Amino acid sequence: MEFLSTSLFLLMEFLLVVVPKIWECCRILVWRPLMLSRRFKKQGISGPKYSLFYGNMREIRKMKIDPTPTIFSLAFFLIFRETFLYWNGTEPTICTSDPELAKQILSSKLGFSVRSKRRPELLIFFGKGLSFSEGADWVRHRRILNPALSTDRLKVMTKSMVDCTLRIFEEWRKQNKYEETEQNVMKMEMKKEFYRLTADIIATTAFGSSYAEGNEIFRAHVELRNCCVTSATKVFIHGKQYLPTPLNLRIWKLDRKVKNMIRRIIDTRLKWKNHGDDDLLGIMLNAATSEDPEKKLSIDEIIEECKNFFISGHGTTSILLAWTTMLLRPIIQMSRVATQDMNVGRVEIPKGTSIIFPLLKMHSDRDVWGDDADKFNPLRFANGVSQAANNPNALLAFSFGPRACIGQHFAMMEAKTVLTMILQRFRLNLSREYKHAPMDYISLHPQYGLPIMVKPLHI
Ligand code: HEM
Repeated sequence: MEFLSTSLFLLMEFLLVVVPKIWECCRILVWRPLMLSRRFKKQGISGPKYSLFYGNMREIRKMKIDPTPTIFSLAFFLIFRETFLYWNGTEPTICTSDPELAKQILSSKLGFSVRSKRRPELLIFFGKGLSFSEGADWVRHRRILNPALSTDRLKVMTKSMVDCTLRIFEEWRKQNKYEETEQNVMKMEMKKEFYRLTADIIATTAFGSSYAEGNEIFRAHVELRNCCVTSATKVFIHGKQYLPTPLNLRIWKLDRKVKNMIRRIIDTRLKWKNHGDDDLLGIMLNAATSEDPEKKLSIDEIIEECKNFFISGHGTTSILLAWTTMLLRPIIQMSRVATQDMNVGRVEIPKGTSIIFPLLKMHSDRDVWGDDADKFNPLRFANGVSQAANNPNALLAFSFGPRACIGQHFAMMEAKTVLTMILQRFRLNLSREYKHAPMDYISLHPQYGLPIMVKPLHI
């Protein structure tokens, strides 16, 4: 009797607990990929074949570690054309280079699509600021931060941009290596120099910090970035981010170090009158004392926002400056996730689908930009951005719509200031040692650096 009741109990448990789990696994691993592939095929969208568990991750990984690494979306575009479906494990992902589709999805204010989730280690690196907040939180942060980068404030910041650039010229002069070579030419690793300079500019203009403080944060951040990227290239296992592995311990330690440095800058500023309200940090610290919950930021939120702005504010621009000499772009792609079923143009996108916009492909598409798509031709913008290609929405460098880059005017002002000042004083030539190998390292980096021969025009 006892045996019978135990067996009955086990059978009930099997039916109630195990069977639904098995069904859920089958649904995610087999049924959903099958049904969604059919649903997209009916709309004329196909892609590489799904394989169990991995989706297309094995093919993509192989392309990335090939002796000549390929940006996988470019390879798939050759086969599947403008819009295709691929599987990031069991996660359906639509990759589209259609500017109209991009415009509609990115400019939607209905909240049907949100930024794709980042891996936890990348969130530590970037900070959980504006870039990764959603809904009411994002609205509150964006409202408070928008005025910090207004045109009026940018005019004031230009002076600091000039001062920081002059400071780095002075350092180059002190190295005094021009005279050592026959024709007063010095070889410089410009990727590193631009990285240092843009870090100094954002630290000075946005946080009013000193050169030494900015430099200290910059060095800790570079180390944190390397650890986070190493961790993010490993297979993701839920919960692993909480385990005290040597890499995680290092990441936590560096994160604490960066946060403590930012906290020190904040403590100093809190003693100032009005907290120095004319820069980003001053505006945030004034928001910390606001009584209105819609205009308030906590000190922890401010620390995360500082990390976010420090990273967004110098990584991209330094790469822009580096690639300006090579005619490439810093950001490779943008992504969104559909939070509900969406109808965009002629495409139906089911809830849970990721959508990728491959900027690298979209910005060099001959069908859109003409036969000289890969040539440096600034004159194509002579009549404005909307006339530069055969589609007015073709340029997505800073994105569209509500989530467009908050720092785009800052970045353009900075790039113009720094480049003009360099070109007034130096002649630049690519060193023979340069190896062209753009690499996907959060953004598009010159894998072996950017050695440039720098010759002062007036010594
Ligand atoms: C060449 C330089 C830059 C490029 C190419 C660039 C590009 C972009 C792009 C494409 C986005 C939108 C991403 C998406 O929608 O998924 C974005 C967002 C953002 N950018 Fe930039 N950016 C640059 C410089 C800057 C600078 C200098 C700052 C700060 C001073 C900055 C701060 C941000 C922030 C905070 C966001 C998130 C905005 C939001 O979600 O509301 N960026 N950037």
